[in-house]
Amino acid sequence: MFQESQRDAWLQRYGEEPPPDLAPVEAFLRHRSVRRYDDRPVPEGTIAALVACAQSAATSSYAQAWTLVSVQDSEKRAVVANLCGDQKQVLTAPWFFCVCIDLYRSHALGEKSGVIPDAVGTAEALMVTAVDASLAAERMVCAAEAIGLGACYIGALRNKPQELAELLDFPPGVFGIFGLCLGYPSEADTRAVIKPRLPQPIVWHREKYQREPDVSAFDARMEEFYPRIGMDTSTTWSARQARRFSLGYLQGRETLDERLREMGFLTD
Ligand SMILES: Cc1cc2nc3c(=O)[nH]c(=O)nc-3n(C[C@H](O)[C@H](O)[C@H](O)COP(=O)(O)O)c2cc1C
Repeated sequence: MFQESQRDAWLQRYGEEPPPDLAPVEAFLRHRSVRRYDDRPVPEGTIAALVACAQSAATSSYAQAWTLVSVQDSEKRAVVANLCGDQKQVLTAPWFFCVCIDLYRSHALGEKSGVIPDAVGTAEALMVTAVDASLAAERMVCAAEAIGLGACYIGALRNKPQELAELLDFPPGVFGIFGLCLGYPSEADTRAVIKPRLPQPIVWHREKYQREPDVSAFDARMEEFYPRIGMDTSTTWSARQARRFSLGYLQGRETLDERLREMGFLTD
C-alpha cells in the first residue's frame, strides 16, 4: 500500500534531498507505525514466515533467549488491551504478539543438562535478552512491511507486567518487554505517514562523541509536522523527548526494576 519513491521517503524523513549515490533501501525508509487495519485476514502461514524471519536475526551467543506469545482469543485480547492502557490497535489488530525476554528456558534447559546458569539475575543477562528480542522483533516488522503489512510496537505492555504474566501463565524469568500489532494497513488511516527523523549528524558522530546537539531545525520541522498527525504544537519535540524520561510520564513503569526482580530478573 505504501509506495513513496526512495527520494520522497528521504525528503519526508529529513526534509532535504537524498545523497546521489544512495543504495536502494526504500522499503526501510517507508516505515511508519500502523495503528488501523483493514479486515483482510493475515494467514497463519504468513505469520510462520515472519516468525522465521525473526528467528533469522543474529542472537547473542546463539542463546535465542526470547519467546513470542500470540494472543488471538478475543476475550484475552481485550484484557491485554486494557493492561496496555486501552490502546485500540491492541484490540483491533489481526495479530497481536507479546514479545518476551526469556531466561526461564535457559534455566530449565541448564538444569536438565547439569549446568547452573547462575548469572541469569545480572544486568548483562537482562541486556542480552532485551537486545536479542528487539533484533528479532524488528526483523519480523521489516519482513512484514516488505510484504505489505503494517505494524505497531506497544511499550505499554510493560504497564502491568505481573497481571500480564498471570493472564498468559508466564513462568519466572519471562517478561513481556513490548507488544507487537500486525495487520494490513487501513486505506482510511491518514495518520500512518512517514515521520521525520533527526538530521543524521545528530545521531551519527564521527571519530568522537559530539556533546552539543543542535536540534532547533528539527524542532521547527516538527512544529510543522505535528498537526498532520493531529498533535498540538504547544510543546517542542525537544521538550517531549525529555518528558519521555521524566518520572511523571512513566505511569507506574518507574517501579519496573522492582517488578523485574520479582519476576526473576536483576536479582544479583
Ligand atoms: C519499543 C516501542 C514501543 C512503542 N510503544 C508504542 C505504544 O505503546 N503505542 C503506540 O501507539 N506506539 C508505540 N510505539 C511506536 C512509536 O510511537 C513510533 O515508532 C514513533 O512515534 C515513531 O513513529 P513511526 O514508527 O511511525 O516512524 C512504540 C515503538 C517502539 C519502538
